[in-house]
Amino acid sequence: MGANELLAELADIGRTSSGGYSRLSWDPATMELREWFAAQAVAAGLELTEDGNGNQVAWWGQGSDALLLGSHLDSVPDGGPLDGPLGVASALAAIGRLKAEGWKPSRPIAVVNFTDEEGARFGVACLGSRLATGAIASDHALGLTDAAGHTLAEVMRARGRDPRLAGPSEWLAAAKYYVELHLEQGRWLAPHDAPVGVASAIWPHGRWRLDFCGQGNHAGATAMVDRYDPMLTYAATVLAARELALDFGQRATIGRVQVEPGSTNSIPSRITAWLDARAESEPGLDALVAGIVERAETAARDDGTTVDVRAESTTGAVDFDPQLRHRLAALLDAPVLPTGAGHDAGILAAKLPTAMLFVRNPTGISHAPQESASAEDIDAGVDALVQVVRELA
Ligand code: GLV
Ligand code: MN
Ligand code: MN
Repeated sequence: MGANELLAELADIGRTSSGGYSRLSWDPATMELREWFAAQAVAAGLELTEDGNGNQVAWWGQGSDALLLGSHLDSVPDGGPLDGPLGVASALAAIGRLKAEGWKPSRPIAVVNFTDEEGARFGVACLGSRLATGAIASDHALGLTDAAGHTLAEVMRARGRDPRLAGPSEWLAAAKYYVELHLEQGRWLAPHDAPVGVASAIWPHGRWRLDFCGQGNHAGATAMVDRYDPMLTYAATVLAARELALDFGQRATIGRVQVEPGSTNSIPSRITAWLDARAESEPGLDALVAGIVERAETAARDDGTTVDVRAESTTGAVDFDPQLRHRLAALLDAPVLPTGAGHDAGILAAKLPTAMLFVRNPTGISHAPQESASAEDIDAGVDALVQVVRELA
């Protein structure tokens, strides 16, 4: 089956009323996607394994020095159809084509479905690959909680997994290369008039939790000058984040917020907001976040509130293996471009030579239902992946 046909099989899984997808790790939609992946592995004659972190690995041959392909099947809330599934479907399609041609690899090849790449459920991005590489301690990861207050350990147990097995994975430590194909996020490829690009780098990025506390009180009975309203401090922080990111050519987003008690006729007592910040360099990111925190603290003093800031998930700058990316760019005659989006490939790059292929996104929209690529470009991505597999395996 081609990648377009494989993706069509996923069209109804985790669909939202807006036409997008909500597929959070270990929820019913991703459990269905895991079954789909397992069935595809069996149909392709691949041997399916699952590590202690929930990462599914479908093997063509087994052993060390493997070429790993793949991506993830989870999504952000109300995300698009391709961020993640495109890479998994393209890898399965590429392997299917090579097998049908009778081609024999010189090293094991595996397709990986990394669990919880988006970090939409437990707050830490790339949780499956962080656990498998040891980039996050399993004790810490297993204690993370979702919005309902359930820990990762509880959720894994409820899905029949033994959380004591979570942690660094041997299959990954013994691998030779990882190549992840992904939908392009943004429009860096557009000026090159090319369907496929090769990644050079990932901007350093992270997530910070901001807790703004004040005094809950009556909306009608409290004079404006007598208030300690954390909503004001929060609002000043959103504006400061935008202003500072604009000043330095970086990115700062507050896309998630909780209000307590969340009542129309009450001054809130607490606002919790999550900041996503990204910059071209690590010092740039540090300066951006420090600037936003300073502005939040100044606003809190003015408003008689408090603000507490905690990093939840950070990823340093990733410079993909230069030799590998030049080799693949020459092989594919493809442009080389950086990205502001995070990926499991960014986590694996610290452990083994890693590369990414990006498939053109005509609008640049991602993490939204409108995320798209043309059927022709999806086929071009599979063609590129087939060439890469022949080159590296
Ligand atoms: C994942 O897509 C991220 O960049 O946060
Ligand atoms: Mn994403
Ligand atoms: Mn992704």
